[in-house]
Amino acid sequence: MADTKIPLLHVQSSGTGTPVLLIHGFPFTSRMWQPQLHGLADAGQILAPDLPGFGSSPAAPPPHSVDELAHACMAVLDAHGISGPAVVGGLSMGGYIALAIARLYPQRLRGLMLLSTRAGADGAEAKANRDKAIATAQEQGPAPAGEGMFPKLLAPGNYDAQPQTAEELKAIMAGATTEGVVMALTAMRDRPDSTPLLSQISVPTLVVHGEEDQVIPKSEAEAMAAAIPNSQLQIIPQAGHVPNLEQAAEFNKIIASFVASV
Ligand code: MLT
Repeated sequence: MADTKIPLLHVQSSGTGTPVLLIHGFPFTSRMWQPQLHGLADAGQILAPDLPGFGSSPAAPPPHSVDELAHACMAVLDAHGISGPAVVGGLSMGGYIALAIARLYPQRLRGLMLLSTRAGADGAEAKANRDKAIATAQEQGPAPAGEGMFPKLLAPGNYDAQPQTAEELKAIMAGATTEGVVMALTAMRDRPDSTPLLSQISVPTLVVHGEEDQVIPKSEAEAMAAAIPNSQLQIIPQAGHVPNLEQAAEFNKIIASFVASV
């Protein structure tokens, strides 16, 4: 059982069968997984929590860390009576949390999905940018965090090709609160380097990345897949940082096939 002081997270769910936990990125909410909640209901029991201070989940008391968020995500499985191993996936920040789950709860994993994410920690410059973003959120609220990221989230051509995806992203980011943004930036700033963990991950691992990701370069995904023994890498063309929204059908096909294989 997971031990956490974070109040139970709000969850959107669909389907039955193999449990599949999907952890959202920053500054998103579980709403980002709508195409998966609809499209993967035949593939497994999809559980998509709102992290604390995002969507319908209350803010978390300190300390704020990826490990605390990992415990809170595992408490979601406990609350659904899922004690056997689950597939755990996370996009970007959600991937940082999924890697913490792989370190803290290896026995509760039957598969790991690292989506648009990286293993490394923040360097000095990235940490300084997190501090600036925390100060901005405390002064101006949650909106600037999303506005700053918006131009980099989609593949460059998708802003014109998929205006509805761009609009949906704005609606998703409207679910962030100041407390959530500050908590998430703090946890990301202080997260450990997961690179040494990669060679010890023994469960089947799926690494998915958009070919044109402008937030995290594709080379990070290639390096992770190369370092994880039992891994496969899928690069999705015409997708940026949110391939689950930009190329939902292709993304869902890859996830369904992975879940069926573990
Ligand atoms: C995310 O998409 O979750 C964040 O951009 C990750 C990060 O800021 O490191």
